[in-house]
This record gives sequence, structure tokens and C-alpha cells, in this order.
Amino acid sequence: MPAANKYKITAFVCATLLLATQAPAVEVHSPDGRIAFSVDLDGDGRARYGIVYGDEAIIGESRLGLRFASRAELDAGFRLAETSRSGGDTTWEQPWGERRFVRDHFNELLLGFESVAGPERRFNLHVRVHDDGVGFRYEVPAQDYYDDVSIVDELTEFHLQQDGVAYWIPGHGWNRYEFLYQTTPIDEVLLAHTPMTMRLASGTHISIHEAALVNYAAFSLDQRRPGVLQTNLAQRSDGVRVKTQTPFVTPWRTIQISPDAVGLLNSNLILNLNEPNVLGDVSWVEPGKYVGIWWAMHIGKQTWSSGERHGATTAETKRYIDFAAKYGFDGVLVEGWNTGWDGDWFNNGAIFSFTEPYPDFDLQAVTDYARDNGVRLIGHHETSGHISNYEAQMADAFDLYESLGVRQIKTGYVADGGQIQQVDANGVTHYEWHDSQIAVNHFEHVLKEAAKRKISINTHEPVKATGLRRTYPNWISREGARGQEYNADWAVPNPPEHNVLLTFTRLLGGPMDFTPGIFDLLHQGPDTEFRVQSTLMHQLALYVVLYSPIQMAADLPENYARHSDAFQFIVDVPTDWEESIAVAGEVGDYVVLARKERGGDDWFLGAITDEVSRELRVPLSFLSDGHDYTATVYRDGKRADWETNPYDYVIEERVLNHDSALKLKLAAGGGAAIQFRPILEAKQ
Ligand code: NOJ
Ligand code: CA
Repeated sequence: MPAANKYKITAFVCATLLLATQAPAVEVHSPDGRIAFSVDLDGDGRARYGIVYGDEAIIGESRLGLRFASRAELDAGFRLAETSRSGGDTTWEQPWGERRFVRDHFNELLLGFESVAGPERRFNLHVRVHDDGVGFRYEVPAQDYYDDVSIVDELTEFHLQQDGVAYWIPGHGWNRYEFLYQTTPIDEVLLAHTPMTMRLASGTHISIHEAALVNYAAFSLDQRRPGVLQTNLAQRSDGVRVKTQTPFVTPWRTIQISPDAVGLLNSNLILNLNEPNVLGDVSWVEPGKYVGIWWAMHIGKQTWSSGERHGATTAETKRYIDFAAKYGFDGVLVEGWNTGWDGDWFNNGAIFSFTEPYPDFDLQAVTDYARDNGVRLIGHHETSGHISNYEAQMADAFDLYESLGVRQIKTGYVADGGQIQQVDANGVTHYEWHDSQIAVNHFEHVLKEAAKRKISINTHEPVKATGLRRTYPNWISREGARGQEYNADWAVPNPPEHNVLLTFTRLLGGPMDFTPGIFDLLHQGPDTEFRVQSTLMHQLALYVVLYSPIQMAADLPENYARHSDAFQFIVDVPTDWEESIAVAGEVGDYVVLARKERGGDDWFLGAITDEVSRELRVPLSFLSDGHDYTATVYRDGKRADWETNPYDYVIEERVLNHDSALKLKLAAGGGAAIQFRPILEAKQ
């Protein structure tokens, strides 16, 4: 039987099964009618759901429910007591983002379940179906015996109805989210972080994730039986997953659905399912570009710790400020400025001071010098995962930065998975996961404290991104994946396909502080494996491809001087966008993104490929019709190849317009970056 028919029949069987139980299934469709979400109860009164896309089964008969430590579970023995429908079609504005206006168009179903057997219990299921996917969440209202609850398990399943390929990183691993992606048949996934993206046998692409992760634990996807993925909530050190009180809602469980790979990149589902901005005026949240005392430590030229090679000196910081001022960068990040880095800083989180600079770093002098040069110092707080030490100093540390005019802090939680340290009132240390409820609440606390001082936060070693930047626009970026730092001299470098995989997985959650722009690709010399596995043009393209409102020019100033013509793209590219369009791509192979500058008329395009060189034909229909554009094209040269010839590139000007189709040749590990400037006379 041809694959396509097989899935159509499965869809039919699935729909029939759902309808065959005592209570009829309740359905809700996406506004365009293509996605159908149905819920019913099995013979034991267990709620379950399924998703059909057109005539294709995506998710079938998947369990719903919660288990508690010492309260009856929300599982069997329920009836559907209430059904109500609503919907929305509004457009809201992002203070910064990959697009200014976001349409939020959905149909909503609210189902109220009541127990018919066992102790009296109630819960609601909220379902929102957009054209680009589905979100559903539990609401547990206030009720007898459920004031304080300890959730020990969430029963939510995603019972996939098709085979396919999954792109995933392991959940609950020692390295948090910083793993290389695995590309495997879906049934070989063990425990995976989300977003987990899949290409189903039919060609449809889906990605499972969550939105609005607040006061709850993040989940990984646990393949309990072949094709049946279950939400596995990160555990707290006290053994439960979530401690909370009724009434509460869980984060949204999300499934983005698209006929092709790029549709996932154009989806706004995760943002739409988050609450609007609670911070009011956020004009103090400043997108922009930065440089910093950073890469030199990663490649072993300087140190975070004090001593002869200490990077964060007053003189070195001024050198970076001069460079930033000369080329119009907004900020200078300085790591290693504060005491606590000497010795094994990875394991010494308890001794970091967040207010005491090393003697060779004059904090007041550098912030004054930065201000005089129209640049801001970017703060740095590496906690090594000791959140108690950080929380104890946070108010003072933020006050200090606020008094110096610092508007942005990069935080860090370097500690193995499960090794976040929290010390209780009795002096006992508890070890927690970066995606546990404890950590989730810590990150939110940091945001709130920072917002009081008009400070934005860029979290490294964070919990995954679930769209909370909408609610807290000062959560300006984060890491949460293998970034550029892995191309230094202390790790197996990211392979050429990595950045393409990131785009279709990690980036679906939100901005990433990847820190692109390494120009000295063979920084340890030609004979070592420690290098950047890309061409120079690929580095430029990343500024457009990997979205973040703050982008670092990560290399040393002297390395930019050697390719000043290519560096011009980094100088010119903005980080805040009016619109973004994923134009073409396949997961793990290549991707092309086009973005229009916010507050301007220029368009920018970034294209990257994996280890395969390829020629793409890119229609430029995203450009405004009616006039030509001067395109400055930064592309791989004929002989470019990440491995043998990464510096072969061409920079050329062309006149192109809305009707053009651009032929782009990308080298192995290569890329292209283009700036389109409108020519204001009408086109010929
Ligand atoms: C890990 C971060 O990802 C990296 O950017 C930083 O330099 C180190 N921690 C030190 O804080
Ligand atoms: Ca990191």
C-alpha cells in the first residue's frame, strides 16, 4: 500500500475509534478547517485526544491527566460535564521581535470534566487550535482536598500515528541542552528535550513543545511504547515534579503542524499562547549588537581568572569600547570582571561576588568611558548554578549595575544537569535540574528583579525558551543549545549541519544567543580539529538565520580587520525586524530566511547549508513590488569549502527586484548573506 494511503486509512480508523466510545467525541477545528482536535472518554472515563490534519492522522487516542502524591489522580472515572466554545482573531504588536505584528487567530474549546467514580474531582481542558498548530493545557480549579498539591506525574501522551524522522537532543542529560542533534527514526527516540521536530512519513512536519512555562516543571518526551511519547516532567530534588496550589493551570502543550519544514519557522503559535506583556513600557529593552571580552577566554588566549592573562582589565575593556564605538556596536560584554573565578570556577558557585571587581578592573571608569563613547557595558553574572549565592546578592548586584547605566546582563548557570545548587534555611544544599520547577521559578524571579531596574537578561544555561519573552520582554535572549563556544578549543566542534538543525528545533522556542561571527576559523592553527566547521560566509548568514534581538560579533577585533569587507555585513545588519519570512529549507539540510529591518526599508537574507554544497533558486517575491533594489551579495567563492577553503568568498553588487529569482551557490558548510537596499526610482 502506498504510504500516503496508509495514513489516510489510519486517520479514518482513528476517527471511528474516537466516535465508537460511549460519549461522542467533541471536536474543534482550526480557523482554516484543516486541523481537527477531538476529545472523548474511554470506557473507564479517561479523557483522551487525537489530532487529524486534513485527511491525515497525526495524533490518535492519547491519554490526558495528572497524578498527585497524596490526592486521587485526574485520570479514570470522569464524565464530560461542560463544553464551551470561543475563539479569537486579534493582532498584537511586539516591542521587538522577528516581526512587529502577530496575528492570533484560533478556535477554542473548553471542556470541564467531573468525577463519576472515586473521590469528587474536577479539571478543565483548554484547547486552542490555530492554523499553524494546537495548544492545550490543564486547569485544576480550587476544590476540596486539593489546596496544596504535589504533582508526581503528568499523563499527557502524544501517540504518533505515522513513522518518520525525529531531530532531537537527549532530555535529563549531564550537558543540559548542549548536545549535538540526533537524526533518527521516531521510534528510536528515547527521552528528548523539546522542541522536538519530526518529519512524518507523509511529508508533514510537526514539532512538539510547550508554551508559557511558569511555576511548573519543563517536560521531556519519553517514548514509553513505540510511537507513544509521554510528558516526563523534570523532577525536583524532593522527588515530586511540581508543588503548587489550586487553582492552577499547566503550561500549554503544543504541536506545531505544517505541510513543509519552513512552515514551522513561520509559525507564531508559541508566542500566541503566552500572556501579553506584564511590564508595561519596555522602551528600555534595547535590541542591538555587541562585542566583548569573551572568545579570547574560550580559545585560551586570556583567562576569566586573575593573573597575567586576565582578560577583563580596564585597558582591554577600553580597547573593546573603542572598537565598538568605531563600528557602531551598542554594547561591550566583559566576562571575568568580578571575584570568584580563581580556581575551579565551574564547581565554586558559592564564592562568586557580583559586586566586587578584580583590582585591575575599574568598573566605574569603564562604564564612564563606555557612556562617553556612546556604548554600554553589558553586565555578566556567572553563577555556576549556585542560585542561592546569586539570589542573596541579586538586589545589590542589580542596583550596582543600574547605578552605572548597565541595561543588560548575561547570566550563566554552568553546572551539570541536576547540579543547580539551592541551600535551604538549615544550610542543606539541594541539587536541582535546570528545567525543574525550582529553576523555572528562579529564572522568573531574576526577570522580575531585573525589570524593576530596567535591566534585560540574556540567560546562558537556561531552561528552554517557551515564549515568555512576550510576557517579560526583558528576557531578551538565551542560550539553551550548543552555541558557537563549542567551536573553541575545549570541545568537539559543531558539525556543518548543526546550525541548520538548530534553526528547525531550538529556535522554534525563541531567540538564541548563539554568538556568530567568528572570522579566524582556524584559530588553533591548521592541524587541529578545534576550529569552526563553516565558511566565512556561513558566519555572516547566521546573523539573519539564527534570530536574536541581540547579536554578538564574537571574534577578536584584530580578526575582523583581516576581512574588513566581509565585516561590513556585520556592521550593517540589524537585529530587530518588521517582518521575517522563512523562504526555503529542509530540516538538517539548508535554510533560507529573509527579514525586513524594523524602522527601515532594507531587506536582509541569510542562507546556510550543511556539509553538502548546493545551488538554490530563491524567488525574491518578499521584496516590495514597484522598485528595484541594490543587493550587496556576500557569497561563497567557486572553490569555497568549509574544510579546504573556507575563506574563498565574493562580495558583489547586483540590481534585483520582486520578480527576480536569485541563483545562490552555497559551498559545503557554506552560506550567503545579502542586504537589499531599495532604489527609490520606479523600476524599469
Ligand atoms: C557558559 C556560557 O555559555 C559562555 O558564554 C560563558 O563564557 C561561560 N559560561 C562563562 O560564564
Ligand atoms: Ca553554554
